[in-house]
Amino acid sequence: MTDDHVMILRTIEDFMRSKYIVSIEQIARKTNKSREYISKLIDELHSKHLIWAPKGREKGFTLNFNGLDTLALIALSRRGILSFIGSKIGIGKEAEIYVGMTSEKNVVAVKFYRIGSPSMKKYVRFRDEVITHPSYLEASKRTAAKEIEALKILSLNNVPSPLPISRNRHVIVTSLIEGDPLPKIKKLERPVRIFESIINSIEMALEAGVIHCDLSAYNVLLKNNDEIVIIDWPQWVRPTHRMAERYLVRDLSNIIDFFVKRHHLIINRDKYFEVLTNKLREYRKR
Ligand SMILES: Nc1ncnc2c1ncn2[C@@H]1O[C@H](COP(=O)(O)OP(=O)(O)O)[C@@H](O)[C@H]1O
Ligand SMILES: [Mg+2]
Repeated sequence: MTDDHVMILRTIEDFMRSKYIVSIEQIARKTNKSREYISKLIDELHSKHLIWAPKGREKGFTLNFNGLDTLALIALSRRGILSFIGSKIGIGKEAEIYVGMTSEKNVVAVKFYRIGSPSMKKYVRFRDEVITHPSYLEASKRTAAKEIEALKILSLNNVPSPLPISRNRHVIVTSLIEGDPLPKIKKLERPVRIFESIINSIEMALEAGVIHCDLSAYNVLLKNNDEIVIIDWPQWVRPTHRMAERYLVRDLSNIIDFFVKRHHLIINRDKYFEVLTNKLREYRKR
């Protein structure tokens, strides 16, 4: 990849703010280069699968997630945030998580959002026909920005969550948590203590103005066998959100259900619901 290849990816990205498909003519005009030269670079980008040519009447190109990854990784490596990407450590409905290394050789977690990406859907038979709609790229960027915003608030308020390091486009870089999601752990040594510390963290997050909204045992990692870290915050809302109470109760239920079913704790559900919904009401009165 040359600087001109990167310039073309950036130009397409800029155009895509307002346009779905970007033509070679548009790129040539914008970059002041000849149509032939742009056409050659476009072919090269296309054969590397960094851009995509939607079928249909209009001839032109759009970025795909590979192209967007490239732009984000270049930006992060220029800033010294990332110098190396290692193995994949997690995959979910909307994101892929890798280990990375900073220029100072710190090991970090790198989360790539892939909202609506065909590769994220299980049963895509005709992959080429599935469109990577540009709105998915934008949605991925917005979601990444939203998650990093939550992580900043949480870390300032000492809620156990990954520390935010950086974001570019749809990629966020955070501290790497050495641990497994709760459901993967067969036997917890002190389940009551762990349950209480999750409840405590939900309260602290609420005090800080953040409700998770996608909390489940899968989004709780256990470090050194007794320290919890809550991950995966892109869906969070403020306590003033009109659905806040419902989300809060749902988060809490998921956690209670898990400890009742898996670890046979006897839990007074109503007590926990009452304490938390009261805290929510107090927050709203502030
Ligand atoms: N900061 C992190 N440190 C270590 N592992 C992580 C980190 N963030 C995510 N993971 C791993 O990746 C998986 C998916 O990440 P998550 O943020 O929950 O995304 P998804 O929205 O795809 O569920 C997690 O279950 C966990 O195993
Ligand atoms: Mg998750």
